[in-house]
Amino acid sequence: MPCSFITFEGLDGSGKTTQMKLLASWLESRGRSVVMTRNPGGTPLGERLRGVLLDSRTEASLGHISPLAELALMFADRAQSIAQIIRPAVAAGQVVLCDRFTDSSEAYQGGGRQLGSSTVLAIHAAVCENLQPDLTLLLLPPLDVSLPRARRRNQRHTERHGEDENRFEREGDAFYSRIHATYLAIAAREPARVALIPDDASIDAIHQKIVSIVAAKLVL
Ligand code: TYD
Repeated sequence: MPCSFITFEGLDGSGKTTQMKLLASWLESRGRSVVMTRNPGGTPLGERLRGVLLDSRTEASLGHISPLAELALMFADRAQSIAQIIRPAVAAGQVVLCDRFTDSSEAYQGGGRQLGSSTVLAIHAAVCENLQPDLTLLLLPPLDVSLPRARRRNQRHTERHGEDENRFEREGDAFYSRIHATYLAIAAREPARVALIPDDASIDAIHQKIVSIVAAKLVL
């Protein structure tokens, strides 16, 4: 079974988006056709939902978003992403690289917002027809390294582009510790799918590690 649906996971500021682009170039240099997308986002509906979900000004205009509403919106985005992008690309023989997927909902809403893993996994089974990535690359350096990075990065992004994706980054350290712990639990539960990369190493060193993991799994 060729490995064609690969997800990237980790805390904000873990460098996963950079690593996804590097892996895309590596795959393309080996003749694979690659589709890159992200959750939330990627589809027109998903980009709208992303604006609602991530903008820290959302609460001022729409009021408090309940944790279950947040979870349901994440899955509305994901269902559309599966229908419009992921399934068609996989069927066409392309490799799909997706920046976050259901593990993010389990870690952030299940763990961070304390809705619990079983609620998230039950929705996944119904709404995503239980679609599982062939491989998940989990970039999880220590919390004290990744959290300050995320806060600095989002601040710069807001200053440069006037966009605001800070809603999650405003949460406290306890929220992020729960996310970190939930990610570790997912990796322990599903070692065949999830490759845990706990290193706080250079971009190139992590890329090399990812390439060796993907090369071992992928039929090129
Ligand atoms: P992303 O753009 O990947 O953020 P970053 O580049 O900072 O890692 O993801 C946006 C945010 O959305 C991130 O804080 C995690 C959150 N999120 C959830 O809470 N649940 C989900 O199901 C997904 C996909 C993302």
